[in-house]
Amino acid sequence: MSIQFDEQSRSFKLDTPSASYVLQITEKGQLLHRYWGKTVSDYDLGALLPWNGAQTIGLQGENTIDAGGEMAFEFPGGGAGDHRVPAVTAVAADGSSAVDLRYVSHSVTPGKPPLSGLPATYVNSDDEAETLVIETADDYSGLTATLYYTVFKNLDVITRHAVLGNKAATPLTLGYALSAAIELPTNKYKMLGLPGAWARERQVEWAPLRRGGQSLQSRRGYSSAMMNPFTALADLDASETRGDVYGFNLVYSGSFLIEAEVDHKDTTRVVIGVNPYDFSWKLEPGELFTTPEAVLVFSATGYGEMSRTYHKLYSKNLCRGVWRDKRRPILINNWEATYFNFNADRLVGLAEKAAEAGIEMLVMDDGWFGKRDDDRSGLGDWFVNEEKLGCSLAELVERVDDAGLSFGIWFEPEMINPDSDLYRAHPDWVLRIPTRPANLGRNQLVLDMSRPDVQDYLVERISDVLGQADIKYLKWDCNRYLTETFSALLPADRSREVWHRYILGLYDVLDRITSAFPKVLFESCASGGGRYDPGMLYYMPQTWTSDNTDAIDRLSIQYGTSFAYPIRTMGAHVSAIPNHQTGRNTPFMTRGDVALQGTFGYELDLTKLDEAEFDLIEDQIDRYQEYQKLIFGGDFYRLISPFENPFEAAWMYVSPDKKAAFVQCVLQRKVANHVPRRVQLQGLDPAALYFIEELGVSYHGDSLMHIGFEIPEVFGDHESICLTIKRK
Ligand code: GLA
Repeated sequence: MSIQFDEQSRSFKLDTPSASYVLQITEKGQLLHRYWGKTVSDYDLGALLPWNGAQTIGLQGENTIDAGGEMAFEFPGGGAGDHRVPAVTAVAADGSSAVDLRYVSHSVTPGKPPLSGLPATYVNSDDEAETLVIETADDYSGLTATLYYTVFKNLDVITRHAVLGNKAATPLTLGYALSAAIELPTNKYKMLGLPGAWARERQVEWAPLRRGGQSLQSRRGYSSAMMNPFTALADLDASETRGDVYGFNLVYSGSFLIEAEVDHKDTTRVVIGVNPYDFSWKLEPGELFTTPEAVLVFSATGYGEMSRTYHKLYSKNLCRGVWRDKRRPILINNWEATYFNFNADRLVGLAEKAAEAGIEMLVMDDGWFGKRDDDRSGLGDWFVNEEKLGCSLAELVERVDDAGLSFGIWFEPEMINPDSDLYRAHPDWVLRIPTRPANLGRNQLVLDMSRPDVQDYLVERISDVLGQADIKYLKWDCNRYLTETFSALLPADRSREVWHRYILGLYDVLDRITSAFPKVLFESCASGGGRYDPGMLYYMPQTWTSDNTDAIDRLSIQYGTSFAYPIRTMGAHVSAIPNHQTGRNTPFMTRGDVALQGTFGYELDLTKLDEAEFDLIEDQIDRYQEYQKLIFGGDFYRLISPFENPFEAAWMYVSPDKKAAFVQCVLQRKVANHVPRRVQLQGLDPAALYFIEELGVSYHGDSLMHIGFEIPEVFGDHESICLTIKRK
């Protein structure tokens, strides 16, 4: 059993393969966080760990106030003795604001229940996990909080969320409604962030914790390119292979908050959830609010292991549908090949050339609908522009099919140009404040996804287009953040619910469309990787990692993304040189090798390639076919970080049975007389003998991992090296 309750100490112990998580109910009914870390045997940790890291006795008030000590609440509320960052706050009808949740009851069930209206990890069978449900309540305000903990048996994962309720006779207004809080007894950690921007998403940054609150957050309405809803707290000297690491990731695509607060006693509280900024939620008596799910991962052996745990969980217990485990088609996207300038003939020409090279799918990107020859008009008018294409969608798809490729299509459903028939018909369908001008982003406004009429319009339009032809893939784009976030339909006392209701509306539309078209492969996108989060991965098993297709920049972007997200979810394409975002010239094979780290495809005008380059596509596709299984289903190991080293970047994949491995290394910059770089492999069977094809040598796994070898020297910037390793 993974979840145990010790009656005597009134402690819960949640055990995953190498970690324990302990909670305790005090005599007064407060629910305290006691421990999370390497496996322990005891339940009652009283003499080892004081309630708050220092103060165990002499409490005077109901809770904590004595000597400034505060208790390690499992789900802290504000206003009744706790002064650190809360998980939940509620304002009562009389204007008072205090929350002090006490234990009421608990139950343990096999499996994992779904979250109402929200994406979440799931179990394939009930024996994969157990769920602890703890009911808590504040009898004064009437707030109730039901806390959910799912413990995965074969992974060091605990998922948490809360369902907040109101048992009072009058409304409560939530301010903070976060998903989880964790207490760590020291502050001796460094905190990882994945900040970024358009075209340079998820850059790896570590900083030691200091006193006070330090937060990673988005206030943009989306999880955003600027900060990912993910963090890890790691021992100060932790590395890829060493040290305790605590991972936190939110299954949510909207504004989020992750805050680590170090108090005056050097204990650390971490909270994660929907961003309380500009948010409130009115709970009428009897109503419920479900928080998104937080996914907590522990690793005692560095952040490489933490990432592999996330990869395994998200590959099998988050992504869904027929494409979850299937090899993805090698696609060619026409965006960087044609931008808006295309018609059916040009697309078919591209498809015919692509077929010669062995590419399997053509994706028609932006520009096929409404009046859309640039980014100033047409969004919202999801009707095929047959005049521009020169034929119907069905005819185009048939011609592409005749060329030997399947067909995919691009949508940007949440957006609307003021210059569109949809806007002229429904100006009230956008997010805006009626009394002030609305900001445009990329010439567009944002549809109010909280409105049922908007949701129905989108489902109807997308379904109609998908129904017109045999469409096998849909890219769901979203190219600006929210401003003037105001819905015409919400009353003033619910107005600030709009941020979260937008996301709930988006999820509802995604749910309806992906359920109606279960065979379609969906890929999410937000100006590249602006919404790369587990929420979107629940509906769509892959995400366009970045609009930056430069292979050298992609090394960092993909490296950062791999901290939380599986390689098989990363959209990666070979594009033209000079690269459209950087002007850099990278060898064709290197571009292919970097695109192997993901779903693999092309995004360039194949008709303009010279013969020598065109012939290389065949080599790239051969390499893809050879390693695809290993990349898609293998364990991923980061070897050399492009953030810590200006020269090489290296990574590898190992098959689950450890019989095969594939090592890739790309030279970011060549210097003359460079000190050779030694790389130690990871994840191999120490006792097994392996043959490295390209080096023509055989060594045991232990030698390759403990001694490693020097990366063979290459000449010229941006060359790549691939090593095929097979067990003898
Ligand atoms: C965004 C996407 C691109 C492309 C364009 C089309 O920028 O990230 O891949 O689809 O929109 O306008």
